[in-house]
Amino acid sequence: MHNRTLKAESEKDEILETTSDEFLKGLERADSDLPFPVETISVPEESRLVIQTEPRSAGADRFRLVQMRLRHLQASKKLRTLLITSPLPGDGKSTVSLNLAAALAEKGKRPVLLLEADVYRPSLLKKLGLSPWAGLTECLDNKSDPMLAIRRVDPMGFYILPAGSPTLGGNFLQSTLTPQFFEGLATTFKWIIVDSPPTTPMAEILALKVLTDATLLVVRAGGTPREAIETATQTLGREHIIGIVLNDVEGLEKVYSKYYGYTQPAHGPKGAKSIRK
Ligand SMILES: Nc1ncnc2c1ncn2[C@@H]1O[C@H](COP(=O)(O)OP(=O)(O)OP(=O)(O)O)[C@@H](O)[C@H]1O
Ligand SMILES: [Mg+2]
Repeated sequence: MHNRTLKAESEKDEILETTSDEFLKGLERADSDLPFPVETISVPEESRLVIQTEPRSAGADRFRLVQMRLRHLQASKKLRTLLITSPLPGDGKSTVSLNLAAALAEKGKRPVLLLEADVYRPSLLKKLGLSPWAGLTECLDNKSDPMLAIRRVDPMGFYILPAGSPTLGGNFLQSTLTPQFFEGLATTFKWIIVDSPPTTPMAEILALKVLTDATLLVVRAGGTPREAIETATQTLGREHIIGIVLNDVEGLEKVYSKYYGYTQPAHGPKGAKSIRK
């Protein structure tokens, strides 16, 4: 009876098959038991963390869809550490990373770590309105335990290891990151979302690629040039890319509106479109 294979009612969408012993053990090990300090914030609107600030928006819906697909993939193949990168600076990697971490964590239902590996242009703590603390660069420099730099961010319920002080040296990650670093984190977290630098400089992204299971490539709708996407795809290799996130589709709609007469009504429902007379 105890080792009977169960299909958890609440997790039908992720085709979760497990034994009843494992299932019950999982429930006992609620992630809220993880021994990390907690930061409770009021999420700034500028963070664009729409999963939290506008949960009924089309953008939040799209992030929930991506998290569902990721969970399906995790059920069918090894997928725990996810590299989030983009061909160019400013394509939206950090915004996508924040929203995905929040969507996967579902307010603390799953232990999800947001690892800020963009040690050149860290932005996550600022986006969340948090004061900085020692993070990844300090851990790698001093060979200290990364677990000591992790905090939980509520109400989203994900955990964050920030980049720490920005580094000026080139190829910092290539010379300091090790498989053991990720293996240690993977024993605690079900998902590790790695907010990374763009695909140039190449050495850094290749160092991250070999230590992660797959890549989500972020491109800005109507913004990232096709050649830059092709170069990024070649750098990462098609087999490592499990998907492309088209960011700022609404921005693209605004561009189209100039030509086709679509516009946002000033006082209408959010996200609705109307035809300009
Ligand atoms: N969908 C969106 N709609 C409107 N603005 C957006 C969207 N996504 C990101 N932005 C804005 O674009 C800017 C860059 O976004 P973000 O910091 O996420 O990009 P990034 O790729 O992480 O940048 P960097 O390469 O500097 O790390 C930010 O000001 C962010 O608020
Ligand atoms: Mg960023």
